Amino acid sequence: MPVAASQTADDVDGLFNFMLTIATGLFFLVEGTLIVMAIKFRRKPGDQTDGPPVEGNVPLEIVWTAIPTVIVFILAIYSFEVYNQMGGLDPEASQGANANQIAHHHHHHHTIGMGTMVAMDSGQDLALGLGVEPNQDPAIAPLEVDVNGIQYAWIFTYPETGVISGDLHVPVNRPVKLNIKAGDVIHAFWLPEFRIKQDAIPGQDSVMAFTPNRVGNYPIICAELCGSFHGGMKTTLYVEEESQFQQWIQDNTFAQNADLEEAIALNGSQALTPGEYLQPYAAEMGVGAETLAQLAAHSASQTPVPAP
Ligand code: CUA
Repeated sequence: MPVAASQTADDVDGLFNFMLTIATGLFFLVEGTLIVMAIKFRRKPGDQTDGPPVEGNVPLEIVWTAIPTVIVFILAIYSFEVYNQMGGLDPEASQGANANQIAHHHHHHHTIGMGTMVAMDSGQDLALGLGVEPNQDPAIAPLEVDVNGIQYAWIFTYPETGVISGDLHVPVNRPVKLNIKAGDVIHAFWLPEFRIKQDAIPGQDSVMAFTPNRVGNYPIICAELCGSFHGGMKTTLYVEEESQFQQWIQDNTFAQNADLEEAIALNGSQALTPGEYLQPYAAEMGVGAETLAQLAAHSASQTPVPAP
């Protein structure tokens, strides 16, 4: 197993080790019994008789049904609890870790025509993925980062500062909430060191929350076959000390604003495609020429998606 870089990862490893221990015990019990019986009851030389006609044994069948049933129930409860700790049971909670929690939790009622009441969920409520962990301190606002999966790169946008990056920087010990989108086909955002993975689906946003507790660099891998360069769709998650993270945000805010002003001065009259806009950052972001071409093609052919 790779290192566990969050409490969630430790929880998942605990569940995995528990299952592995049971499976290993059962393996030796079943295989050991098989070998002992095969030796003990093997045919003796010259013995041409039939074996005893054994047919059914109710107590035995009850026992070997009851034991796995109990094991499966224990595993179900245990894994359900781990999934809940990861925020998987209520992904929409992450829509409002702060003030708008209540607003998002009750349905919006609309009165139509002759007093007909229709309860409607706005599309934003139907979140997929892993939301805020239930034991998380609500006083600490999570760091929100928008993630866009495109063939073949992950683009991260920090809504608070407008910083755009090809790799993900987060401070240690602060909850992170990723709003995951896909620009073209289905991708999957996988953090092996955090034991979490979430599909990025075109037209259906998903969320993933985690709290890193270990400074370091960790791989971000696309775990869904998404085209010829799927294998190259990976980048790095940098978990940093708070001061280091703030420095990174500051450096990138200045750098990108300077470039942006220059770009506007040069191209004041014409709108840039995302590919053209990102061109100056391509090398820094680790985004290849084929990705920029994809972006340009994508924005050119983009048709508005009808509202559900
Ligand atoms: Cu994106 Cu594989």
